[in-house]
Amino acid sequence: MKKSLERESFSTGIAVFFATLSSTVGLGNIWKFPYLTGKYGGGAFLLIYLISIIFVAMPIMISELYIGRRTRKNPIGAFAKLRSKGPWKIIGYMGILSAFFILFFYSAVAGWIYSYIFKAIRGVFNGTSQKDMQNIFDRTVTGPIPPIIWQIVAIAVVSLILVFGVKKGIERITKLLMPVLLILIIICDIRSLFLPGAMDGIKFLFKVDFSSITKEVVLMALGLSFFKLSLGMGTIITYGSYFTADNNMIATSGKVVISDTLVSLLAGIAIFPAVFSFGMQPEQGPGLLFMTIPLVFSKIPFGGLLVIVFFILTAIAATTAMMSIFEVVVAFITEERKLSRKVAVLISAVTVIIFGVLATLSAGTSGFLSSIKVFGLTFFDFFDSVSSNILLPLGGLLIAIFVGYFLNKQDIRRELSNDGTLKNTAIINAYLFLLRFVTPVLLLIVFLSMIGIIG
Ligand code: TRP
Repeated sequence: MKKSLERESFSTGIAVFFATLSSTVGLGNIWKFPYLTGKYGGGAFLLIYLISIIFVAMPIMISELYIGRRTRKNPIGAFAKLRSKGPWKIIGYMGILSAFFILFFYSAVAGWIYSYIFKAIRGVFNGTSQKDMQNIFDRTVTGPIPPIIWQIVAIAVVSLILVFGVKKGIERITKLLMPVLLILIIICDIRSLFLPGAMDGIKFLFKVDFSSITKEVVLMALGLSFFKLSLGMGTIITYGSYFTADNNMIATSGKVVISDTLVSLLAGIAIFPAVFSFGMQPEQGPGLLFMTIPLVFSKIPFGGLLVIVFFILTAIAATTAMMSIFEVVVAFITEERKLSRKVAVLISAVTVIIFGVLATLSAGTSGFLSSIKVFGLTFFDFFDSVSSNILLPLGGLLIAIFVGYFLNKQDIRRELSNDGTLKNTAIINAYLFLLRFVTPVLLLIVFLSMIGIIG
């Protein structure tokens, strides 16, 4: 087995799968997917999302894994190694910028999750009505001091794990805990499905109303597919750089995409029946998860305990996903700027706290900074939109063009078939076809229509 000397790698195939999954499964699945699906029309949004993961996200995931394992470097070093000339390193730098933008608002939401753990422990959700849930959420978000403190806690936890290099240990824990989170979500699903009027929620989630597909719906679904699968900024390149030489990367991508989608769907099935049954609005935005899940648990035996466990596990999922975003910045600073890991983590954490506070204070309707707008958006929405809807898809487009048109095809075939040991020529052909002729075309169409060049 070919192993690079100075870099650690994941030890086995199953470790590779779970590590990658621990990056992709996070708030994107549990918080963002349901809230965007609710806001952008349910089934139609889901359909565009599924099209986008097959034709856009999968080819890009495979490309990122290829770049990472081929070079065994951080994203910026990787592009430099494959092509020292040309502008390609820009993809790496854009990735650093996206990483920061995502962390600014992601850490705010992670902070809300932490605060819900303690609310659940204190029994705040006992016997509450749906109106109370709205108030509890509004108060949590508006703060102003507590949400900032929770955000700093969330950032500190990630930083400490990264500094002490206990990543391996954390990966072992997540491998055990992810199935538990899945079981809890499934318990919620079952309870939700038995609520009166639950079927309206299922219809909302799965029934496609083609008339609700607009440009904005397409853009949001596409952006979500990048966000949820950690694509377009180098996270998967970084993970690929730790992959073992005998891993079947195309198969791993498929498994990761399917599992990640499954977790999102199960979260949706827990939330939407409840939304309709409790007479809430599916399009109410970022509070959707926070207002429904505690109410569903309150109708389950031992729900008071289960809801605590649910928020703890969600916090862990958010933490491991955040680690994978931080890791891109830290790998860059340590490998390209030759600073120690401690200093790299400190620099990134402080930056995230400073700007992240802007995101936190601008969230919610009555937030301290919610009336300040950047390009018509609050800081929170600005960081979110610029990263998910512009930087990540743009990074993806450049990666598709780079791998599809500028790299040696033989080399790609060799790497993806593990020097010919895997008999997967047909699937590699399909991948290369999508990557060259479908993925970039779809992305370009979306971009051009976004800036109004095509209708
Ligand atoms: N995919 C993660 C989630 O769903 C978030 C995430 C981790 C991410 N790494 C990323 C998003 C890289 C974009 C790019 O919560």
